[in-house]
Amino acid sequence: MIVALRESIEVAKGYIQKMTDPVHDMNHVKSVVSLSLRLAKEFPIADRDVIEIATWWHDVGRLFDERHEPISAQVAYDSLIENGIGKKFSKAVYDAIVFHRWNMKPKTLEGKIVRDADKLDFINIKRWERCINKKSDPNCKKHY
Ligand SMILES: [Fe+2]
Ligand SMILES: [Fe+2]
Repeated sequence: MIVALRESIEVAKGYIQKMTDPVHDMNHVKSVVSLSLRLAKEFPIADRDVIEIATWWHDVGRLFDERHEPISAQVAYDSLIENGIGKKFSKAVYDAIVFHRWNMKPKTLEGKIVRDADKLDFINIKRWERCINKKSDPNCKKHY
């Protein structure tokens, strides 16, 4: 992975660290990154860099709105362009993020992998254990 993309991950981490929702925090994002790269191994034609960058950014839009998918996609796209990444790669990242909600249909293989990895983390026991420890948090409450 080129330096500019590694830097993009650091920028995304800066946003994620501000996320206080225990269901969508750094633990969740790291888990989705790991799951998506495991899924990507089954699809050699998938662009692993697009998948990795998209997973780091996929929930950043939650800082602005619960209907966050297009916001995450746009913030990631703008940040990549600003850091000198080409339009083609940046658009591929946008496409891999924008349709990751349960009932949405991603248009690209990378988008399908990001969505499925995100949903696989729904059955991550550690994620819900964190919520049991923070039962009073409204983001946890709505899942009980
Ligand atoms: Fe999301
Ligand atoms: Fe997510």
